[in-house]
Amino acid sequence: MKRDCLTLKDLTKDEILHLIDTAVEIKKKIKNGENYEPLSGTILGMIFEKSSTRTRLSFESGMKRLGGEAIFLSSRDIQLGRGESIEDSAQVISRYVDIIMIRTFEHSRIMKFAQYSSVPVINALTDLLHPCQVLSDLMTIKEHFGRLNDLKIAFIGDGNNMANSWIYAAAILGLNLTVAAPIDLSPSGIVIKESMEIAKNTNADITLTQIPYEAALNADVIYTDVWASMGQEEQTVRKHSLLKHYQINSELVKDANRDYIFMHCLPAHRGEEVSADIIDGEHSIVWDEAENRTYAQAAVILKLLGRD
Ligand code: CP
Ligand code: NVA
Repeated sequence: MKRDCLTLKDLTKDEILHLIDTAVEIKKKIKNGENYEPLSGTILGMIFEKSSTRTRLSFESGMKRLGGEAIFLSSRDIQLGRGESIEDSAQVISRYVDIIMIRTFEHSRIMKFAQYSSVPVINALTDLLHPCQVLSDLMTIKEHFGRLNDLKIAFIGDGNNMANSWIYAAAILGLNLTVAAPIDLSPSGIVIKESMEIAKNTNADITLTQIPYEAALNADVIYTDVWASMGQEEQTVRKHSLLKHYQINSELVKDANRDYIFMHCLPAHRGEEVSADIIDGEHSIVWDEAENRTYAQAAVILKLLGRD
């Protein structure tokens, strides 16, 4: 039976940990210039209903570096964007490629697509979740600290698709996560409920607060994301007003751990969710984080195709 990765819940804890190790191995092989082409003969279809720089490039370059091919499909150009149904699009597109990634709006769209696709489907961001980003982030944290446990991870800002994905990651892997978001911009209630259930078995320590300082205090990882996500442009003024005290700046991080790292999925808006001195400063690892998308996603593809 084909497997999808629409949410981190599609993977077990052991699979996620193995995937991170695979990603590190892939990175080593690519950096060493080894001839490593496990995706030779494999075609990835990439459907984008929203903009992208990192996701598009990292999937495409990852496929090419590992011997495969990628086909970019903008919804502006394919019939899906002109009203062809998701059901028909999924059945047709999956006849031409071996695996598909989709970036779209409502999470229900990708769920329906996956239901009708005969090949594995990867979530490359929905309004609800961005699992590929968190997998790359976990790899980056492991690379930096050598571990994922015994670290306080703080997500500060909008309770958006990144916050939701972090909550699932913490629950499944048993991590220590504090999310600070305004009450009106809390993460998804369903994600929180499900994660708290999962956390009972994994000893995850998940705290939700409205106080950014509480999250930043003694944090090892400080993470933020844009205040208005793609598709929420009309909410920009409201969100900026609700989030104005959630900016990651030198005052907020003053009591973080001395060796804390700053992370951001990017694109960033300096002066909004993060000050320039923090994102461009010595604690920031955002460029490594962006680079690691390539390796973590290649590991996801190998996993779903049963070649890991
Ligand atoms: N972080 C991320 O997914 O970036 P893009 O929107 O550029 O793909
Ligand atoms: N929360 C952001 C993430 C971008 C990678 C968005 O959905 O636009």
